[in-house]
Amino acid sequence: MKATAIANANIALVKYWGKRDKKLVLPYNSSISMTLDGLSTVTTVEFSKKYEKDSIIINGKELVKDEKGILNHIERIRNLANIKEKSKIVSKSNFPIAAGLASSASGFAALTLAATKAAKLELNEKDLTILTRQGSGSASRSVCEGFVEWYKGDKDDGSDSYAESIVNKNHWNEFRMITAIVTKTEKKVSSRSGMAQTVNTCPYYKCWLETIDRDLELIRNGIKNRDFSSVGQTAEYNCLKMHALMITTKPPIIYWTPATMEIIDFVREQREEGIECYFTIDAGPNVIVMCLKKNEKKINKKLSELGGVMKTIICGPGDGAKIIDKHLF
Ligand code: PMV
Repeated sequence: MKATAIANANIALVKYWGKRDKKLVLPYNSSISMTLDGLSTVTTVEFSKKYEKDSIIINGKELVKDEKGILNHIERIRNLANIKEKSKIVSKSNFPIAAGLASSASGFAALTLAATKAAKLELNEKDLTILTRQGSGSASRSVCEGFVEWYKGDKDDGSDSYAESIVNKNHWNEFRMITAIVTKTEKKVSSRSGMAQTVNTCPYYKCWLETIDRDLELIRNGIKNRDFSSVGQTAEYNCLKMHALMITTKPPIIYWTPATMEIIDFVREQREEGIECYFTIDAGPNVIVMCLKKNEKKINKKLSELGGVMKTIICGPGDGAKIIDKHLF
């Protein structure tokens, strides 16, 4: 009862921010993302009588404080499969975790696929996204390939809140997301508590929800028609709206650092010079610069030379979660 899965991180173009049901992880709004080719997590899960307790090793270190509820998620899967065996979980990501880089997304997507396979549960992609969602909301999108929509759903039981690909990864393989890493330290406020605080205290949350359907429609159509200007403009503005919410919660959450601002200025200067690019930022200080393949090298070179940028990673649209043969233990 052992299986290994690989899943890629994803970055949202229309962000998920706020839960209508915390237990089932049901969002107030639908979201759209791109699954990133190359920013991946590999996870091996084994259920066996030889283990007396569950253990989790992430990037070589035994996890002591399970803040993300990984064991809850394993218990959920054990209950579904009707098994009692304890588990050993070993997971490795090829990028810094908890720096606003959606590591929980690739992590929970790989974990859910590996654990369900190890527990001999046969789930279709839709049901896998629903189960993954309950571990981490944005992770539901990492199950699927290319450009992906996670529907908020209306039902109380969450059965209509699932993710699916809008188009596969080959539909728009010129699209690039360049992640500029400005810090590798863990963020101070998790997205989980940040979004709860926003829903409870931000006076503008209602306005955010009122504008979401339009953003979803523009991005969905923009992806289908490969309209880079429309997708870029809408995604950048959607990210600024989300950060405006964060900044106006009580107490305020400000993820940006001077390096974040340096990259925002850089993107705007590039546009003034006629090089089309846009930015998006998750719950952290790192910035993702969106451009087309033809401008990738030029932009990446200049971006890497900025004082605050430690490292850049270039990604195109990637695969959904997959089972692989090579186990981590
Ligand atoms: O699913 P979580 O708890 O990692 O929250 C993700 C929140 C954002 O990254 C800011 C937005 C998104 O849609 O990915």
